[in-house]
Parts: sequence; C-alpha cells; structure tokens
Amino acid sequence: MKLFIDTANLNHINELVTYNIISGVTTNPSLMAKEGISGKENCHKRYIDICELVNGPVSAEVISTDHKGMLDEAYELSALHPNIVIKIPMIKEGIKAIYELNKNGIKTNCTLIFSAAQALLAAKAGATFVSPFIGRLDDVNEDGLGLIKSIRTIYDNYNFETNILAASIRSKEHINKCAEIGADFATIPYSLLNQLFDHPLTTKGLEIFLTDHAKLNP
Ligand code: G3P
Repeated sequence: MKLFIDTANLNHINELVTYNIISGVTTNPSLMAKEGISGKENCHKRYIDICELVNGPVSAEVISTDHKGMLDEAYELSALHPNIVIKIPMIKEGIKAIYELNKNGIKTNCTLIFSAAQALLAAKAGATFVSPFIGRLDDVNEDGLGLIKSIRTIYDNYNFETNILAASIRSKEHINKCAEIGADFATIPYSLLNQLFDHPLTTKGLEIFLTDHAKLNP
C-alpha cells in the first residue's frame, strides 16, 4: 500500500519526502483554506509548488458542481503539471466529467465516496482513484473499513483497474487494516504519519541500549 500525505502544507511535505515514505499528495478545498490559500492564481501556484516537491500524483480538487465547469477547471489544472490528478466529487455531473476526462487521458480521483455502489459507478466511468472516507463514516456509526473491504471485493471480482485510495484516515488501526484489506493507497494527515514512526517499547529499548553502552564507555 502506497502512502500519500493529505495536506497542502509545503513544510510538512518537504519534511516527509526526505524519508521516502510518501508517494504523492492529496489536497481538498478545506486543506487549501487551512493554509490560507485563496484565489485561482494562488491555488495554482500551490499545486505547482507541491508537484515540484514530490515525485508522484498530486490531487487537485475542482470546485464547480456542473459538468462543463468541472471540465474547464480540470483542463486548466492538468496543464499545470503532468503529476496533477483531478479530484472530482461523487455526484452525477462528476461521473460524467470523469468519463470525459478518462477518454482524454486525464487522471481523476473520485472523492466523497461513502458507499460501494458509488465506487462501482466511479470505476465504470474510468476513475483512476476512488477516495472512500473511512473516518467520516465511522463518525456516523457506519463501518468505514467495511466499505474498503467491500470495494476491494467488487473491484477484484470484475478486474476494475481503479485504485482504492483510503481517505479520512484517523488512526494507526485504520492504516493497518487498510493495508491488510488491500487498499492500493492511503492518504494520511501529517500528524498521524509522524506517529507511525513511534512505539513506546522502541523508545524504552533504545534508552536501555544507550544506558548499557554508556556504563562501559564513560
Ligand atoms: O482528502 C480528504 C479526506 O482525507 C478528508 O479527511 O479527516 O477531513 O474527514 P477528514
């Protein structure tokens, strides 16, 4: 399972690429707003800056909700850099746009997926990625990981090439289970990615090793 970072923060991306653990970046309008980025030019500049930091897919989300508006935005965004993937919401107009973009060789990430049926439609339209939101399903007492499992089964049954990009990930448990189920990608917030390095027994074990070494090597 490849890992993406779910952020529009350049410092966070810059830091994590040095460990070679992230294969791409996902953004959304809320993450762009969190960084205080507004206006088309500034958004475009941020996407280009992100693409220059990471050698992999960078999802940039459209804000139009009609098919024509989505396509206009998509063509502009995809011209910014070859690694841009167009993130399109799972609505009827979005599925039409994904079909059109796929025909023209433009990669898409169908976002806001909350059911297996939605993932099936996105795959039929030719989405490159689908983003099922695990944490937001858990928030309303539904089974986020169950959705990943169900989409995996459906895609395997019919040999769909669409990649499962697990999103809205909130815990290490989510990450472990997604990898066990066989999600192709998981997009993870910076703070959680940092927690993956740690285990209390690693910290304690290292302390013991260094103390023992110091006893004989004052
Ligand atoms: O990129 C979209 C997704 O990861 C959002 O996560 O935590 O806002 O539900 P969250």
